[in-house]
Amino acid sequence: MASLYFKVIVVVLLAAVALDSVDGRRWDPIIRWPFHRRGTPENGTRWAVLVAGSNGFGNYRHQADVCHAYQILKRGGLKEENIVVFMYDDIADSEMNPRKGTIINHPNGRDVYEGVPKDYTGENVTAANFYAVIQGNKTGVKGGSGKVVDSKPNDHVFIYYSDHGGPGVLGMPVMPFVYGKDLIEALKKKHASGTYEEMMIYVESCESGSVFEGIMPTDLNVYVTTASNAEESSWGTYCPGMDPAPPPEYMTCLGDLYSVAWMEDSETHNLKKETVKEQYERVKERTSNFNSYNAGSHVMEYGNKSIKAEKLCLYQGFDPKAETLLGSNGIRRRPLQVVNQRDADLLFMWERYKKLKDNSEEKSEHLKKSIIDAIAYRKHLDVSVETIGFILFGPANDLKSTRSQGLPLVDDWDCLKSMVQVFEERCGSLTQYGMKHMRAFANICNNGVTTEDMAEASAVACSRSFGVYSE
Ligand SMILES: *[C@@H]1O[C@H](CO)[C@@H](O)[C@H](O)[C@H]1NC(C)=O
Ligand SMILES: *[C@@H]1O[C@H](CO)[C@@H](O)[C@H](O)[C@H]1NC(C)=O
Ligand SMILES: *[C@@H]1O[C@H](CO)[C@@H](O)[C@H](O)[C@H]1NC(C)=O
Ligand SMILES: *[C@@H]1O[C@H](CO)[C@@H](O)[C@H](O)[C@H]1NC(C)=O
Repeated sequence: MASLYFKVIVVVLLAAVALDSVDGRRWDPIIRWPFHRRGTPENGTRWAVLVAGSNGFGNYRHQADVCHAYQILKRGGLKEENIVVFMYDDIADSEMNPRKGTIINHPNGRDVYEGVPKDYTGENVTAANFYAVIQGNKTGVKGGSGKVVDSKPNDHVFIYYSDHGGPGVLGMPVMPFVYGKDLIEALKKKHASGTYEEMMIYVESCESGSVFEGIMPTDLNVYVTTASNAEESSWGTYCPGMDPAPPPEYMTCLGDLYSVAWMEDSETHNLKKETVKEQYERVKERTSNFNSYNAGSHVMEYGNKSIKAEKLCLYQGFDPKAETLLGSNGIRRRPLQVVNQRDADLLFMWERYKKLKDNSEEKSEHLKKSIIDAIAYRKHLDVSVETIGFILFGPANDLKSTRSQGLPLVDDWDCLKSMVQVFEERCGSLTQYGMKHMRAFANICNNGVTTEDMAEASAVACSRSFGVYSE
């Protein structure tokens, strides 16, 4: 095992050296970008908010991403009191975790769970708490440690989110979702309070671009990048059966493509020299799976792009050990195998089934039934939305149509929320899979359908009761 590990390292290093000269991107020692005139890392505090929006062992990777981000920021010198962590925290001690009490985010990775503060866990991982934390509103948070971004005008704030999403929404383990409009309202309030200098936001989820597209202002001193554009999935990686695979005892994916791309980039560069723009470009290339978009996504950017000229250390801090790092050491410049976020849980269930089959007939039969139920429920959601489209607009409806770039997903976000509610009351929980249908609900709103008509169509489409279903 040790010698295999060694060989892997040697191969990776050789590959890095070879590629470094091939693409000619050796680190340029001349500092071209001056520090932003209004601040230096020495003036003001760095804050971070890290959010894993899912739960369940099949979603291991999102909490692993967030724990890993914590370790990077901690090594970068951010103080624990300035990093607010949202994670359901049901992974490390799960009976399915082969290495109890630890979490890894890379096949050869070290534990990233140790020391992660449990600010908002379990039932306290909510959209409302997320907004209150960003705004530094201590009286607004319910439960949890009460830690908020109590920042000052000179401070820099970094927000990183990883989970499932859908058009216009980011998932949360406790409903409701984070709606794009509400998140941006929270950012506007933060800006109005004058309690930060600049902010950088990284978001990993399916259709994450749609959360900001057409509604993210450029005058909030906030720069955003997202794992995917408004219309595509984002991808899980380091999954069983893939190359590279997690250690064989893991039945679940360890990371997400965009997330590991930025974190492994940060860990292999000198963040006092690397700019936000350089990271954006490297992450974009890697997340596209080196321009093979068939399994990869388009990293997008929103907000004030002037911020890109700044050094990453303003947000992520600086690990003194990175002083000597030159360039793309250790970064894999070849495509990673990936799985669509929405199929990752089926992959997990299937892996678990294979493992159980040899040990317990009863347990494996039970799990097989769960897999079939999960697939059947997905079909139920797909067919219901399709039927509603048919009832409202006839066979040639455009419920899946996308608006041109720069336009928001929906004009009336309150309408979008109501349509989801009306649908769920009659057809059952939308679930993390069903978030993919948010665009249909948005188009229903954009076409001026009333909630009464939507209620009637949903009642008809879902008249054959499916019973209660939970993921
Ligand atoms: C940073 O802080 C120092 C000491 O308080 C001050 O002298 C300097 O002007 C500040 N620089 C900026 C750019 O605000
Ligand atoms: C803090 O949150 C509470 C509860 O949501 C709200 O009533 C209050 O207005 C908020 N305070 C500020 C300063 O935004
Ligand atoms: C939520 O926060 C409250 C108050 O801090 C705490 O008592 C409770 O245990 C928390 N719930 C979870 C699941 O951590
Ligand atoms: C974007 O940020 C730059 C640098 O902080 C600032 O000069 C510019 O005014 C900002 N743009 C907008 C539209 O606020």
